[in-house]
Amino acid sequence: MTTRTQDGSAGDVDYGAIGSGYSSYRRPDERIARFIAEALGDARKVLNVGAGAGSYESAARAVTAVEPSESMRAQRPTHLAPAVDAVAEELPFADGEFEAAMTLFSVHQWSDVRAGLREMRRVTRGPVVILTCDPALVRDFWLYRYAPEVLDTEARRYPLVEELTEALGGTWTVQSVPIPLDCTDGFNEAYYGRPEMLLNPAARQACSAWSFVDDRVRELFDDTLRHDLESGAWDEEFGRLRGQPTYEGSLVIVRATP
Ligand SMILES: C[S@@+](CC[C@H](N)C(=O)[O-])C[C@H]1O[C@@H](n2cnc3c(N)ncnc32)[C@H](O)[C@@H]1O
Repeated sequence: MTTRTQDGSAGDVDYGAIGSGYSSYRRPDERIARFIAEALGDARKVLNVGAGAGSYESAARAVTAVEPSESMRAQRPTHLAPAVDAVAEELPFADGEFEAAMTLFSVHQWSDVRAGLREMRRVTRGPVVILTCDPALVRDFWLYRYAPEVLDTEARRYPLVEELTEALGGTWTVQSVPIPLDCTDGFNEAYYGRPEMLLNPAARQACSAWSFVDDRVRELFDDTLRHDLESGAWDEEFGRLRGQPTYEGSLVIVRATP
């Protein structure tokens, strides 16, 4: 059974504690949205699991959103339908009710990924689309130099891509998603060419891995990155990223059809 906090949060993060500023820093990025739209194809009736504040929900589709955290549901804009209070591991829908389903930046938080994905497969006739990070690639980012604990946490939390494809079965593809330099969705790698953004505690809080490390790690990160930016050491080594239009890091789309 999934344990839930007072705010309803069902994963490894209590959004009642850290979620209030989420939608200010995690705004859907239109370039990433195109990859998701392509993966969903022409499906009209779509399920969004772990929907949060509704990022990447298209008005052109009939979207049913599932979101356990009250704090996240409260950040949904009024033009979107209210989200159903439920968890991935136990979806309150009939077999094959949806033409397609998506879950974005969410599977790494679930208490039982296999059960959640089996549920998504059960209620979906067409593609199940997962936007997530490949744990084998998360440490390849410059942030590992400054806050290894944060990316070690990420690498531990994200399920292996094979675990996702095995749980979904059928036919699947895995596609790397290029991250634009001015990406509006502020996950850690979105700041690959804008390191100053990660000195902002509110921007960091919108990436849940930072809530798994203690103050000492955050302070050391802040001191060392700030120092390297002031001395020019960061730019000497990574400065080319400031002008690189896209970055292929750990972000991937897994798409499975029955
Ligand atoms: C990082 S947020 C992503 C939200 C949204 N999909 C987005 O792209 O902005 C992760 C979301 O997954 C939700 N979540 C965590 N565990 C869950 C579970 N077991 N079932 C459904 N949703 C869950 C959280 O409440 C949170 O809203």
